[in-house]
Amino acid sequence: MFKIDQITKIYNPGTTNIKALDQVSFSVMEADMLIIMGRSGSGKSTLLRIMGLLDYPTTGDIYLEDKKVTSLPEWKRASLRLERIGYVFQEYALLGELTAHQNVYLPGMMLGANGTNFKQKAMDRKWQLCKPGACNL
Ligand SMILES: Nc1ncnc2c1ncn2[C@@H]1O[C@H](COP(=O)(O)OP(=O)(O)OP(=O)(O)O)[C@@H](O)[C@H]1O
Ligand SMILES: [Mg+2]
Repeated sequence: MFKIDQITKIYNPGTTNIKALDQVSFSVMEADMLIIMGRSGSGKSTLLRIMGLLDYPTTGDIYLEDKKVTSLPEWKRASLRLERIGYVFQEYALLGELTAHQNVYLPGMMLGANGTNFKQKAMDRKWQLCKPGACNL
């Protein structure tokens, strides 16, 4: 369960004061599918970055399975990102020095014992690129 409680995000506080999110609250339960829609600049990416623990809200709180995760130390947020949150970046965020396969298995490798067979998992058919119509996902 993910709960967003009265989240506000102000970029450049004290100078340009851009209010990207204004008291946003909602919950997402397990197996829910949520679509966030809004015009350009309405704060969708800002919200996703905060939910993905990649940025901090200015005020408000985020709960993951009833635990407040808003202001955990960075190493704990990094571990939650690795173990609990999947995030597909609009701008890809691939590492250019690695192959496509290595980019896919890197998070599995970082999971240590939980990521055993990470190379094979990264080759699973459902994750492979294929020609339109040729994949049976
Ligand atoms: N790093 C930043 N510094 C200052 N202002 C920002 C920053 N990131 C976003 N903004 C501003 O915050 C507001 C929300 O931006 P955001 O990128 O979250 O919108 P969006 O809904 O994702 O837009 P789009 O549909 O174009 O991707 C906009 O006014 C944007 O200019
Ligand atoms: Mg966006």
